[in-house]
Amino acid sequence: MHPQPEALGELAELLGGLGLAVETARSTVEALNKLRGSPAHVIVANHISASPHAFDGVAFLAASTVHSPEALRIALVASPDEAVELDYRPVHEGAIIRLVAKPSERSRLVGLVSEGTKLLNLVEDQRDLVRRLSLDQQKLQRRETLLDVVVKERTKDLEESYLKLKAANRQALFGLAEAIEAKDPYTKGHCGRVAAYSIILAKEAGYPVEGLETLEFGAFLHDIGKIGIKDAVLLKPGPLDDAEWIHMREHPVKGYDIASKIEMLHPIMPAVRNHHERWDGSGYPDKMLAEDIPLVARIVAIADAYDAMATDRPYKQALPLEECEAILRKTAGKMYDPELIAVFCDRHLGALYRDDYEAQPYDDGLAG
Ligand SMILES: [Fe+2]
Repeated sequence: MHPQPEALGELAELLGGLGLAVETARSTVEALNKLRGSPAHVIVANHISASPHAFDGVAFLAASTVHSPEALRIALVASPDEAVELDYRPVHEGAIIRLVAKPSERSRLVGLVSEGTKLLNLVEDQRDLVRRLSLDQQKLQRRETLLDVVVKERTKDLEESYLKLKAANRQALFGLAEAIEAKDPYTKGHCGRVAAYSIILAKEAGYPVEGLETLEFGAFLHDIGKIGIKDAVLLKPGPLDDAEWIHMREHPVKGYDIASKIEMLHPIMPAVRNHHERWDGSGYPDKMLAEDIPLVARIVAIADAYDAMATDRPYKQALPLEECEAILRKTAGKMYDPELIAVFCDRHLGALYRDDYEAQPYDDGLAG
């Protein structure tokens, strides 16, 4: 503020009464120094000073735009005529200038100062808000990026852990299957072949892809209950007597009991328990009928029966593919699911392990 010296104190008091912080200066240098330290919202300058050091209001207001570019600039003039206004025109570039007559327009001056202050406060608040929002936005973006990186890393870790666990599970399961086969050397490779026939039959019969892995394990471990069968019965070279058959036929339930105690094996319980059920209800242990027999058990039953016929055993020679297929077709609808038998025989899926037949091109990526 730079009005006439005698009016300076009076004006400062008047504007201070509005609750504003008022700074006064008696020369252009003093005024510019004050502005340099603390930019103003409203700058009031005397158009022509009566002090010995002539005060040039036009030059001062123009210079003040450097330190307070957004301030409302007011020039106090004797009378706001056109000639005075022309003097201030260059300062108008990019700055707000109001000409106020002194002292007649004092109330207008008070109003302008008050409005100018409010306006600049609003502008500053708005800028502050935008800055804070922008900072928040940046923080949020940084956090999102960080979160994204963390989530990706965790997901990768989890996937790796899952794959390791899955591999370990597979090894454990196959180890279990080997333990069954180790008891009976004549069934060497039987579990793996039953799994392979089961998978190929399931795929050809339109079995859901997401169930294939469980089916593979189920087929692999269908005879897990044989762990609980006495060696004298399991390894007996000759035919079994009635009591021995009764004991041997306990293996699906024994296997089911084992699987029920191991959570990892729960999904394969139907294959273990029901792979000796028969389509006509004459099987064991539950005497299930036709489609009541779990599909996985119906598939494993055919794979199991075929492999028994198709491999050499101590008491019999392996049968040719056509003979095996002929026997299976005869039992369709009596022992086995007729639709599955048709798929298995029509497409010669039993040729998978035979050198004398061209094997079906087959690789599901599951069999280990
Ligand atoms: Fe069995």
